[in-house]
Amino acid sequence: MSEAPDRNLALELVRATEAAALAAARWVGRGQKEEGDGAAVDALRLLLGTVRMDGIVVIGEGEKDEAPMLYNGELVGNKQGPAVDVAVDPVEGTNLLAKGLPNSISVVAIAPRGALFNPGPAFYMDKLVVGPEAVGKVDIDAPVIENLAAVAAAKGLELKEVTVVILDRARNRHYIDAVRAAGARVRLISDGDVAPALMTALPDTGIDMVIGSGGTPEGVITACAMRGLGGEIQGRLLPQSDLERTRVLEAGLDLNRKLTLLDLAGGDDHFFAATGITQGDFLRGVRYTSTGAITHSLVTRTRSGTWRTIEAHHQWSKLMSYSEVEYHIKD
Ligand code: FBP
Repeated sequence: MSEAPDRNLALELVRATEAAALAAARWVGRGQKEEGDGAAVDALRLLLGTVRMDGIVVIGEGEKDEAPMLYNGELVGNKQGPAVDVAVDPVEGTNLLAKGLPNSISVVAIAPRGALFNPGPAFYMDKLVVGPEAVGKVDIDAPVIENLAAVAAAKGLELKEVTVVILDRARNRHYIDAVRAAGARVRLISDGDVAPALMTALPDTGIDMVIGSGGTPEGVITACAMRGLGGEIQGRLLPQSDLERTRVLEAGLDLNRKLTLLDLAGGDDHFFAATGITQGDFLRGVRYTSTGAITHSLVTRTRSGTWRTIEAHHQWSKLMSYSEVEYHIKD
């Protein structure tokens, strides 16, 4: 029997992202992204099993036949709490992890059952992400320069002071050119558009907007976080191959539909947790000490509008061992 969420599950979820980050951190810079991702999946799944929820994975590691764990449709949680949709990204930015580059994070988001957009076979979407000041003042269908001007005005900046993060892909070339032509600043990233999306909504990060095509799952996860942080994401599915386009259309998804924040993450109670794996601009990465490791996380809840950062000091001597990596947090 389901019930309304009455406690901040993000504070339970963060134990899972901490565990995943600790597990993945063993693989930083080792050039083996699958191994790092696998370690994070194991840890995340183990800890998610303790969270007081009746969860179903909507955004996971793939379909059941391609992902042994945290596959789409898998039931997670201890089955005793509220009925929720679950979106996981044990390692967001697997290349960043493998190369030891900044801003790889471990992420989990939950929303009331049925509230998350289910992207099915839609891997890519166009996105526009802004922080609270610019909510309602931008439009993914407007010219880039208009959105830049709106963000600048909303934040009290000159247009040339606005910083826009864009995934460095040929498909995003028109955005890069448009931002540069407008005189604003571009920060190109090689991977991982969730961490900069969070930064648009957090104070004093120097990141004002994220635009361009990236992963649809990452877009849904970003939407959950934006519901808690008060920012906004708009999007539109943008298949990158004929096969993807065909599958998306067969699944009944609409390529013309502008996806609003509420389309991507409906309902009124979302919980989001992210923990840094590699050193990041906002979230610090896992750091080792002589006796353990330190993690740095962000947690948000939509209903209360609360966000917190949590620095956790983990002592190896108090951790339970699981598989070959020490990460299982007792409490
Ligand atoms: P991973 O799945 O390897 O973690 O990649 C994450 C990511 O960089 C996202 O942040 C981004 O939205 C997407 O991949 C971009 O996809 P692509 O690398 O295919 O352009």
